[in-house]
Amino acid sequence: MRRPFIAGNWKMNLDRAGAVELASAIAAKAADYGHVELAVFPPTIYIEAVRDAVAGTPLGYGAQNVYFEPKGAFTGETSTAMLIDLGCDYVILGHSERRHILGETDAEVNQKVHAALAAKLVPIVCVGELLAEREAGTTGDVIRRQFDGSLAGLSAEQMQQVVIAYEPVWAIGTGKVATPEQAEEVHKDLRKIMADRYNITVAEAVRIQYGGSVKASNAAEILAQENVDGALVGGASLQADEFLGIVACVSR
Ligand code: 13P
Repeated sequence: MRRPFIAGNWKMNLDRAGAVELASAIAAKAADYGHVELAVFPPTIYIEAVRDAVAGTPLGYGAQNVYFEPKGAFTGETSTAMLIDLGCDYVILGHSERRHILGETDAEVNQKVHAALAAKLVPIVCVGELLAEREAGTTGDVIRRQFDGSLAGLSAEQMQQVVIAYEPVWAIGTGKVATPEQAEEVHKDLRKIMADRYNITVAEAVRIQYGGSVKASNAAEILAQENVDGALVGGASLQADEFLGIVACVSR
């Protein structure tokens, strides 16, 4: 049984007070949804404040990115040890904004995945096609390339620690959510890739979140899909009621 996992990616939003308020409001209700794993991803600079706000509650937290080197002259970067020091359990890696705006490659994502696993951080690894790629009918190829590049060199045991987020780039922040059928098709394809590269046990164990314009009003039908194990939520995770409305769509 895969435990549903709903995560809120706050991206580069909020200030310190707003982050604390939002985390507190979600944390106050987290215990009502014990069947769902819940986590928020504040800007790195506010992780410590969020840690204090959620202490003693089931709400988890993590970072939106990390660097793969352990320490040294890497101005502006954050190490896995620093995230562990702040009590993080998770890190989002290979988000489409990092890939397409900041130029992150599959090879870099792969180094980060290995560093995260070595530090015992759960990586949420994002994959997803551009609109042009979907229209050209190459979604499957893109997903395979990103999977093979970003997740290269992982043992079966390591693979099972990973959470994959399928985030079609054309659905992120656009209000254009993938249809439940479109999401299910790619999620099924990802399980097939894992069955090919590893085995059925791995394919069935790994959780795959959907991300891209998920909100309380459209979450139920996406989350009802057999191979959709949760959501990675952007904009709608910035309001506690809306985020909790999505969490409430996960059946018990
Ligand atoms: P939106 O929910 O704002 O479309 O963002 C999705 C996302 O990128 C989550 O990582």
